[in-house]
Amino acid sequence: MKGIILAGGTGSRLHPITSVVNKQLLPVYDKPMIYYPLSTLMLAGISEILLISTEAALPAFKALLGDGAKIGIDLSYVIQDQPNGLAESFILGREFIGTDRCALILGDNLFYGHGLTDQLQSAAGRKAGATIFAYQVQDPQRYGVLALDGSGRVTDIVEKPADPPSQWAVTGLYFFDNDVVEIAGQVRPSARGELEITDVIKTYLQRGALSVEWLGRGYAWLDTGTNATLLQAAQYIGTLEQRQGLKIACIEEIAYRMNFIDIERFRELADNYGESSYGQYLRNLATTL
Ligand code: TTP
Repeated sequence: MKGIILAGGTGSRLHPITSVVNKQLLPVYDKPMIYYPLSTLMLAGISEILLISTEAALPAFKALLGDGAKIGIDLSYVIQDQPNGLAESFILGREFIGTDRCALILGDNLFYGHGLTDQLQSAAGRKAGATIFAYQVQDPQRYGVLALDGSGRVTDIVEKPADPPSQWAVTGLYFFDNDVVEIAGQVRPSARGELEITDVIKTYLQRGALSVEWLGRGYAWLDTGTNATLLQAAQYIGTLEQRQGLKIACIEEIAYRMNFIDIERFRELADNYGESSYGQYLRNLATTL
């Protein structure tokens, strides 16, 4: 299974911070935002990853992450000229995907919680159909929202409804079989001019091929799109990390735990971050592994 991180966009709600810096390169406490979605894909067991972003931002992502070999993954890059919608990922990523299945995660989506890895791996293990991750939110009007029948089965997905049929939002993490390439190719721009992922998901729903992973109370799905929520996300991560002494979304640690790299490689990486708390964490960890 392959994975795409969509990390373009204009980040207009964060201007002027994002006037010259891509949102996904901003810090969330102690590491760049992109580390979080990258970690999520790695925890799903995915090591062939395509990062899609703007022409202006790609050089910085490449400088930060390179070809991924250092952490045992295979990372490639494609430009998205305009934010034409999430479903464009599968058009831009067509060659990369080939005949494989493919996951998509949005570059500004942070997931955290006990049991997440199991849910990721069960989604990645499904050979056919699509899997979405649903999360209960207070303000469903801002999201794609699930309509459910009496027994909790999904009957519809409505994009940014004025009158939401439930509190269950569709998060920015999706797993698809290879049909996604053909389905996304047939999606037409919506009223707001975007190729909507909701239209792709609806096709799977109509085919009876949609699975949902429900992210319950024990999970955090954090928003980083506004100044207030970006700060909250950083505080959440900082609070947990300082309390436990464990880092969230430490890509080197995850690469080691997922067997993408061996212990010698991990030890080499641990020496690369100087006196930052991130570097100290890796060096401490290296002595205990
Ligand atoms: P949005 O939050 O819709 O947009 P944005 O990040 O540009 O921010 P703003 O609303 O402040 O202008 O996008 C969600 C994520 O998806 C974000 O990580 C950017 C990414 N994205 C793309 O890379 N390409 C696209 O075509 C779209 C629609 C979003």
